[in-house]
Amino acid sequence: MFSKKKNVENSERPGLVVLNKPSSVVSEQFRTIRTNIQFSMIDETLRTIVVSSAGPSSGKSTVSANLAATFASEEKKILLVDADLRKPTVHKTFKVRNHDGLTTLLTDRNTNLEDVIYRTHKDGLYILTSGAIPPNPAELLASKRMEEIKQEMLDYFDMIIFDMPPLLAVTDAQVMASKTDGVLFVIPKGKANKDEIFKAKDLLEKVQANVLGAILNRVDKSDDSYYYYYGE
Ligand SMILES: Nc1ncnc2c1ncn2[C@@H]1O[C@H](COP(=O)(O)OP(=O)(O)O)[C@@H](O)[C@H]1O
Ligand SMILES: [Mg+2]
Repeated sequence: MFSKKKNVENSERPGLVVLNKPSSVVSEQFRTIRTNIQFSMIDETLRTIVVSSAGPSSGKSTVSANLAATFASEEKKILLVDADLRKPTVHKTFKVRNHDGLTTLLTDRNTNLEDVIYRTHKDGLYILTSGAIPPNPAELLASKRMEEIKQEMLDYFDMIIFDMPPLLAVTDAQVMASKTDGVLFVIPKGKANKDEIFKAKDLLEKVQANVLGAILNRVDKSDDSYYYYYGE
């Protein structure tokens, strides 16, 4: 059913390494992350994942998009949700319009999932952009309506990945962490401050979030980019 009208055009997208260069080292590292997450799922169902970090510009959106693309296949339908209602970027990464999106679903009961979700050029990969930026993101994400939307998404998708704002700035990611099966914590190598990481970890523990592990991301553009994963 997704999505007759909304198809993402098949053109190159710079941030999506795993689709542009499937045999690169970075793509291989994303497959390792996928494997590690799959191993951590053996005794529990892990269908909703939050991606966050302590501070801004850590690579959360880059990791979310590439991980969603890595999980997606003909058999596995994955939905990447732009739940960073402060600084949304999924529409930029996939070069689509952001007229409607998550906030439309949250505020307009007449909008259905199939009206706003885009099917991408990668088999099994679907995206939901943020929609218009609201004045009260944390409140919207904490609402009963958000829970209903998440349940509805789970009827159609095998896994949902939520791209979130940083933990220390606003409560959005903490709110979603408490309502999802697992959290991936992105740490920008060389940029992250230890105290901030511990503070963010405390915030996640306060809401009994299931922290799956941390992804170390090198965001220094002068260097080769790479990512890797620590299980817990
Ligand atoms: N591993 C990496 N190597 C090179 N550039 C990166 C890497 N990860 C992120 N970037 C770049 O850094 C910027 C911030 O990344 P982004 O994923 O948007 O972070 P966040 O969502 O945490 O704000 C973007 O311009 C992105 O393309
Ligand atoms: Mg982001």
